[in-house]
Amino acid sequence: MSLSKAETRRPDRLRDRVVRALGPWGMFLKGFVKHPVMVGSIIPSTGTLIDHMLSRVDWAKVDLFVEYGPGVGTFSRTILAHMRGDATYIAIDTNGDFIDYLQRDIADSRFRPILGSATDVEAIIAANGFTHADQILSGLPFSTLPDGVGPAIAAATHRALRPGGSFLVYQFRKRARDFLEPHFSQIENGFEWWNIPPCFLFWATKTDD
Ligand SMILES: C[S@@+](CC[C@H](N)C(=O)[O-])C[C@H]1O[C@@H](n2cnc3c(N)ncnc32)[C@H](O)[C@@H]1O
Repeated sequence: MSLSKAETRRPDRLRDRVVRALGPWGMFLKGFVKHPVMVGSIIPSTGTLIDHMLSRVDWAKVDLFVEYGPGVGTFSRTILAHMRGDATYIAIDTNGDFIDYLQRDIADSRFRPILGSATDVEAIIAANGFTHADQILSGLPFSTLPDGVGPAIAAATHRALRPGGSFLVYQFRKRARDFLEPHFSQIENGFEWWNIPPCFLFWATKTDD
C-alpha cells in the first residue's frame, strides 16, 4: 500500500508543531539535531550565565557589540537592554534557520543578525560601516569546531577589536584558553555552576598595540 503525500508529510508537520510549541527551546533543539557539531549544546545558556558573562562590559563605551553563535538569541535581549540607543549589535551565525528566526523574533533597529562565519568577522564589520568592535562575545563550541577554525577565529577577533576591547568567551571545556593565549596577554577566568553544563568564562582584553 502506498502512502499519500499528506501521510508522508505528517511526521514533519508534527515535528514542526512540537518545535513551535517549545518556542526558542524547540528551535534550538532542532538546530542541535540538524548540526550537533556546530551547535555543540542541547540547551541554551541560563540567565545567570548571561549576567555573569556580561557583568564586566562598560556599556557606555560600546558603539559596536558583536556576538558569534547567537543561536536563538539567548543573550540578545539582555544585550539590547544594556546597549545605548545609538549603538549597533551584529550577531553572526552559520545556521540560516537561527538567523531567520532572529530576524523574525527581534524587531530592534540596533540589531543586525547576519548569516556568516566568525572567521569573517573583519569583513562583516567593514561591510556594516565599522573599523573595529568594542566587545565580541562568543558562544561558539570551540572544542568541537573543525580543525584550524578556533585558532583562526581567535586571531581574526584580536584584529577586529579596538585596543582596550574584550573578547568574552564561555565554554564547557578549558581548552578555549589555548586559542586565546597566543593573541591576548590579559585573560581573566571565571566559572559558572548555574548552567547546563557548568562552564568556564574568559574575558580576554586587547591591550594597546
Ligand atoms: C552552543 S550554541 C550557542 C547558542 C547561544 N549563544 C547560547 O548561549 O545559548 C553555538 C552556536 O554557534 C554557531 N556557530 C558554530 N560555528 C560558527 C561559526 N564559525 N561562526 C558563527 N557561528 C557559528 C552555531 O550555529 C550555534 O548557533
